[in-house]
Amino acid sequence: MSPFKQKEKTAYKTQVARNANMAKFQAAYIFPEIARRRDAHLQKYPDAQVISLGHGDTTEPIPEVITSAMEKRSQALSTLEGYSGYGPAQGEKPLRAAIASTFYDNLGIEEDDIFVSDGAKCDISRLQLVFGSSVTMAVQSPSYPAYVQSSVVMGQTAQYQKDVEKFGNIEYMTCTPENGFFPDLRKVARTDTIFFCSPNNPTGSAATREQLTQLVQFAKDNGSIIVYDSAYAMYMSDDNPRSIFEIPGAKEVAIETSSFSKYAGFTGVRLGWTVVPKQLLFSDGFPVAKDFNRIVCTCFSGASNIAQAGGLACLSPEGIKAMHDVISFYKENAGILAYTFESLGFKVYGGKNAPYVWIHFPGRSSWDVFNEILEKIHVVTIPGIGFGPGGEGFIRVSAFGHRRNVLEASERFKQLYK
Ligand code: MLT
Repeated sequence: MSPFKQKEKTAYKTQVARNANMAKFQAAYIFPEIARRRDAHLQKYPDAQVISLGHGDTTEPIPEVITSAMEKRSQALSTLEGYSGYGPAQGEKPLRAAIASTFYDNLGIEEDDIFVSDGAKCDISRLQLVFGSSVTMAVQSPSYPAYVQSSVVMGQTAQYQKDVEKFGNIEYMTCTPENGFFPDLRKVARTDTIFFCSPNNPTGSAATREQLTQLVQFAKDNGSIIVYDSAYAMYMSDDNPRSIFEIPGAKEVAIETSSFSKYAGFTGVRLGWTVVPKQLLFSDGFPVAKDFNRIVCTCFSGASNIAQAGGLACLSPEGIKAMHDVISFYKENAGILAYTFESLGFKVYGGKNAPYVWIHFPGRSSWDVFNEILEKIHVVTIPGIGFGPGGEGFIRVSAFGHRRNVLEASERFKQLYK
């Protein structure tokens, strides 16, 4: 008997049954899976100069005006006067006030509607805890995978349907070039929650005021709650709403979640926020914000005080300018990548209102295209199917990268597809 088999035979098992919701997952979470494939590729080609334009992780340094504020706060923690332990789980007052005045000025959002957090992704899961397991959800397809995955963990979904790459009873709102990446709401079934990201990750498309007005009306007609992800709003070039709360009536049907990650290079620092307006009520009249507050107090002890000092510096006049400079840099990268693919004859979307370029490979499997690009030119992208069934036939190229890498990747794409 092989030693492996012997080990298997004697393996101790607890009497705890596996969470059946976890067992619904058939494929790995897309971003670690991409990292695994990149590492396997490096093992195979140790001398390859691999360029990562896959996971949307920022690469440029955090502006000095922000890090110096974090440094100061950090140093103060070593003094008796400057030391602080637990802060309010909802975030420090000055930061909540600065978020309200910077992003929601004149929109009727107040400081106490804002919950500071360790990032939008974490808030998405905490919101799912608020909603519980019996709600139904709709989601743009393609979209950021955390919405569907957190819904599966909660047990809001039926079994994975392998043949169609989706989970039963989630309403996938297909967004394609044909519908201008905005779902035909007449064909969307009523659900309790509607996750909507604009500018969208991965397609880079941004909903217009008219479209968001339709979405808010749709939620009102159905008594649904929109969870609006505006993590890329500062990348917007077009004159579209930066916040769902620019739409009249949205405070009664929407929550908004956002983040400093892609504005200030805070993917590692971790800082975001969620707005739950006091006007948003459950069917029994109970304020959603009160339940969110309960979950925040139960599952979270507040964002790092050093990160919050950085967040406050981000929202100073110098900080806002510095963030715009970093965003402009990434948008130039997006322009270079979009132009490269366009000049090769591809249909290219995104790049203008978001740091992602969405490229169509009609009729091809997105994993095949991903593998072809990795294998032949050592560039990491993301296959569209990783963002849901509506992403098949596309790949996403991230504009987060050093300029020399973006230029080098563009040359390699030209060699591959000329
Ligand atoms: C992405 O690559 O889509 C994002 O960076 C992932 C994230 O924000 O967690």
